[in-house]
Amino acid sequence: MYITRDEFVRNVCGCPGKWSMGAFIEFAVADIRAQVGAEHVVLGLSGGVDSSVTAALIHKAIGPQLTCIFVDTGLMRKDEPESVRKLFNDAFKMDLCFIPAEARFLAKLAGVAEPEQKRKIIGAEFVDVFKEAALAISGASWLAQGTTYPDILESIPGADGKAAVKSHHNVGGLPEDLKARFKLLEPVAYLYKEEVREVGRLLGLPEHVVMRQPFPGPGLGVRHLGAVAKPTLDILREADAIVRGEIAAAGLEREVWQAFAVFLPARSVGVGKDGKRTYENAVALRVINSADGVTADWVRLPYDLLARISSRIIAEVAGVNRVVYDITAKPPGTIEWE
Ligand code: XMP
Repeated sequence: MYITRDEFVRNVCGCPGKWSMGAFIEFAVADIRAQVGAEHVVLGLSGGVDSSVTAALIHKAIGPQLTCIFVDTGLMRKDEPESVRKLFNDAFKMDLCFIPAEARFLAKLAGVAEPEQKRKIIGAEFVDVFKEAALAISGASWLAQGTTYPDILESIPGADGKAAVKSHHNVGGLPEDLKARFKLLEPVAYLYKEEVREVGRLLGLPEHVVMRQPFPGPGLGVRHLGAVAKPTLDILREADAIVRGEIAAAGLEREVWQAFAVFLPARSVGVGKDGKRTYENAVALRVINSADGVTADWVRLPYDLLARISSRIIAEVAGVNRVVYDITAKPPGTIEWE
């Protein structure tokens, strides 16, 4: 006799099918309260889906016993730090420890052009800044992380002895002094991404947060080729805001995996509005589709949209006189340029 998977699970195994994200929230809230009791929790909030949903869930459970730490690295996109502050501090009334660390990051990155070195510096500085802030929150004994089920799966070495796909920063990678001080709280560790998004929606997070496109940990540091500096990061932020704004206006924000600008410190000659010669930087557009980030293809955007993005960037962003479209798939390219 043939039975479906659903019949097997319900009729043979006797599962009542009560699993829903609403039920998960009730269970998770009770579980967080039972684990944490009257103790205090700190959470590193990046503004990404996982940490935002984790924050909202823990806040629902224990309210003021949660302190979120947001590190403004100076490598965020336009208006990003302020919108995180507004949402979590003003709207959700969470206790948010906002660390303005732009100057520290930019000082460490000054003159460094090599991509891996930039990544290492950003990663190490982030750990230092976060650690200082977390250890300074007196009485906190729990550290919450937005670890999800795919993070755990990717960090398990294969049965064939092969290395894990990647050693995930959320799994097992905490610095020793944080491990010594804090117990780990990972309330969404058994959820897939779509489930995390649904929990976020049910907790009242806005759609632009739960459906946010992936953004790399090192931020604009890996989207600004060569050594980063505030003036050219600002140029990138403006160009990137135009790209994302036009993609959203065209109704394509949810249709593409990622859409962003890359700053190329490669100057070329052009003609300005006044007919005078210009000699400025270039910006590359990267708009890709992907199922999982492992492979990707560039999106065949309508020419009119490409034209609008290009003319707006050149007209509105001082310091850019050329826009190119990246038509490289992954592989052989990567999604990020660095
Ligand atoms: P690549 O450039 O390797 O990117 O093709 C694959 C996906 O991963 C994102 N990415 C990162 N995400 N920390 C992150 O959290 C990082 O250091 C990082 N580097 C790349 C990238 O945006 C793409 O979605």
